[in-house]
Formats: sequence, structure tokens, C-alpha cells
Amino acid sequence: MTKSTDWSVRDRTVWHQMSGRPAKGAKGPMIVAEGDGAWVTDVEGNRYLDGLSGQWCVNVGYGRARLAEAAAKQLERLAFHPLTRGHLPAIELGERLSGLLGGDRATFYANSGSEANELAFKLVRQYHGLRGEPRRFKIIARYRAYHGSTLGALSATGQAMRRTGYEPLAPGFLHVPPPDPYREGIAEEDLEAYGERCAADLERTIQFELPETVAAVIMEPIITGGGILIPPDSYLPAVKAACERHGVLLICDEVICGFGRTGTWFGHERAGVRPDLVPMAKGITGAYFPLAATVVSDEIFAAFPADPADEGRLRHINTFGGHPGGCAVALETLAIMEEEGLLERSASAGADLLARLRAKLGDHPLVGDLRGRGLLIGIELVADQATRAPAAGAVTGGIVKAAQQRGLLVGRNVDTAAGLDNVIALAPPLSLTDADVDHIVDVLGAVFAEHSSKAVT
Ligand SMILES: Cc1ncc(COP(=O)(O)O)c(C=O)c1O
Repeated sequence: MTKSTDWSVRDRTVWHQMSGRPAKGAKGPMIVAEGDGAWVTDVEGNRYLDGLSGQWCVNVGYGRARLAEAAAKQLERLAFHPLTRGHLPAIELGERLSGLLGGDRATFYANSGSEANELAFKLVRQYHGLRGEPRRFKIIARYRAYHGSTLGALSATGQAMRRTGYEPLAPGFLHVPPPDPYREGIAEEDLEAYGERCAADLERTIQFELPETVAAVIMEPIITGGGILIPPDSYLPAVKAACERHGVLLICDEVICGFGRTGTWFGHERAGVRPDLVPMAKGITGAYFPLAATVVSDEIFAAFPADPADEGRLRHINTFGGHPGGCAVALETLAIMEEEGLLERSASAGADLLARLRAKLGDHPLVGDLRGRGLLIGIELVADQATRAPAAGAVTGGIVKAAQQRGLLVGRNVDTAAGLDNVIALAPPLSLTDADVDHIVDVLGAVFAEHSSKAVT
């Protein structure tokens, strides 16, 4: 029997993320066949600029033969070896990551951002136990943030819409609200005081919970999937200082913000803080190979006994974390980023894109706020600019769909439980060209122009 060439028919055995079985005869999702640069082509030959770098991860763009070759070369040389022992690419990458984070860091490898966060939670609890504070188990996270799909990472996630149906989740996770200057109506001149106030609220939570029961605070430098929430500059340093006052460790989830997304290697660099643990994934290999890492301070590493017979030893193991192919691809990805100046490109193209979107869409009745850092941009949609009432999810969905029809894939936050389903997210490959920036501006200009001529619901 010959196989059908209708991929959407054959796709029926694939269970897609965030969805269930499509109705008989219903058209499934778009199926992508190939990618080059910032663009992907579907099986019908339609081309789209990938304005979300896949899932915020194809940071160096598609079609890099050099990365495929790095993987092939490594897989021929040594396809696999577990990191109960060692291998060369893991060592080289560990050194690189330590250097990028200011030195004196150790790396434990994983396969996904969720797993990297899971390990961070296990490490902070065991670390405190080893130092004689076994009562420190609580992890404080923030509403609206996403930290992953596994049960621990989901427990840290502050989006009810992703948690519901899977509860009860792991105990010991608490949430506080993140800074949200636009929704809180904070004027530019009051921003820094607001950032300090939000950090003080978080510190009060630590105090109310009893500091000696709090193990760690986890936060993304900028909340990404939860609506591109950019905190005031005062916030992260104040949070770090509060953590230090109470012996609480700071975990900065760099799964999206890392690897140039915000114009620096890591999103927290701007704040000048040194987090105790840095989980990372996605852009570390430009998404050419699944790889993640939890990079920790030497102080944490040193607290764990080296002797495998010691009762206090680390009890965490995985098979594919630090796969030689993944580490080789990560090293090559970092080389590409440096050679092509992709951090600078992210900062400058991002600033240009944000300025042009503000000029084009800033006065549109649907646009409440346009914010960004580097190539991480959010367009917050409102039903009413004066009250800032969020636009309905159907409006956000309409914009996403219309952009796709014009050849641009964009993301959206989905926090239906909070009634905040109203931010369009842009995070294109850092290697995008000036013509690609033009395309994004042109498509969104046309899409919003079209939406203003329709009834805005
Ligand atoms: C901030 C953040 N942390 C963790 C994760 C989980 O990463 P993964 O999907 O690789 O498990 C994600 C995924 O989008 C994320 O956005």
C-alpha cells in the first residue's frame, strides 16, 4: 500500500502539544517541512517568518550546516557516554558556561528546561540539608511565570491554566505576584520605587513563611511566556539582597532569557547579580539538539560530598543529560554567536524593531503597551486604552491567525484563568536580517490596520 502524501491525514497518530484528537475530517495544525534563516516552509510550500524561533529556541536561525556537522562529527567519534564518568564535550562546555557566568561555576546537564529546574529544586533542598538546615524546603515562585511541564516545575509555574487538571501538585511551592508596571499603572518616574516595593513584598513573604523554612526563590529575569513582563531595574538586585539577608538561594531561570535573547548572554546580567543557580536550555544549542543545564555556584557544588559512598551524596541521575552530541552542538552554537555578534544583533535589531512597532502601532486602539528588551518583544492588547481592560483571548487569537495568514508566526501568552490572554509575543531568531525586520513590521502593520476596520470586541 502506498503511503498518502497528505501529511495532515498521516498526522493523525501524532498527539500535538496542548491539544487532543482532532475531529474526523478536521484540518490539523500546520506541518513544517524545512527551515532556513528566520524562515520555515510548510508542506504546502507556504513560507513563514518564525517570529517565535520555534518555541523561543532557534536563536541562531535554521539551516546551519555547521551545527549539523558538529553533531555528526561528535556522534561518529563518541555517540554516548554517561556522565557518571566524563567526556570531552561536556568538559569543554562546562568550562565555557562557567566562564560566561563569571567563573567558579559547576554544570549538571539535563535534557529540557523542565528537568533543569527540577534539579535546581532538588539541589537547593539537599544543599540546605547538608548544611544543617533541613527545614528549608519552600520554593517561592511567581504568578504568571512558566517553569516547565514536569510535576515539580509545574508546581513552580504560576499559571493556573497550565496546572489545573493535574493538581494536587508538589507541596512546598508558593507564589507571589511579579512586577507588572503596565497593569499596575506605574509611571516611568516611579518605576524603580515600584521595583523595590515588589521586592519588599517578596521579602515579607519570606518573613511570613519563616525564613528558616525557605530554600529558594525562582524567577526568570523577564517573565516570557507569561506576558513579557519586564521588571524595573531595581527589582532583581533587591530580590537578591533580600534572599541573602535570609539565607535563601536565588534561582534565575534562563531557559528563554539566556543565550542572547535579551541582548546579553543571560537576562540577569543587566541587574549585576550572581544567581546561585542558573537553569538553562533552549537556545544553548540553538535548538539543534536537546540539551539543558543547571549551572550552580562553587559553594553549592562544594557542599556535596565527592565520595559516592557518602550518605550525603547527590542522588540525581539521568541518561541523556550532557549528551556528547548536544554539548558539541552547544559549543559550536556559542562560537557562531560570538563570530556573528549575535548578542549585539539581538540588542540592536530588537531596539529597532521595538521603535518601529511603536511608531506604527503605538496609537492603535487595541495596543495598550509595547515593550521589549533585545529580541524579546510583547504587544499587550486592550479592549479599552483608558481602563487598560485586557482584550479578549479571541482578539489575541485573531491577530495571531491573521499574522500567520500573511506569513508571520507569532506567540501569545495564554493565562485564561487570570483573564490575561492578551499579549502577542515576538522572539525571532537573533540572526534575522534587516529585510526580516521589515517583514515583521509590515505584516503586523497590515494585520492591525485590518483589525481597526473591524469591530473590536
Ligand atoms: C522559562 C521557562 N522555563 C522552563 C521551561 C521548560 O523548558 P522545556 O520545555 O525545555 O522543558 C520553559 C519552556 O518553555 C520556559 O519558558
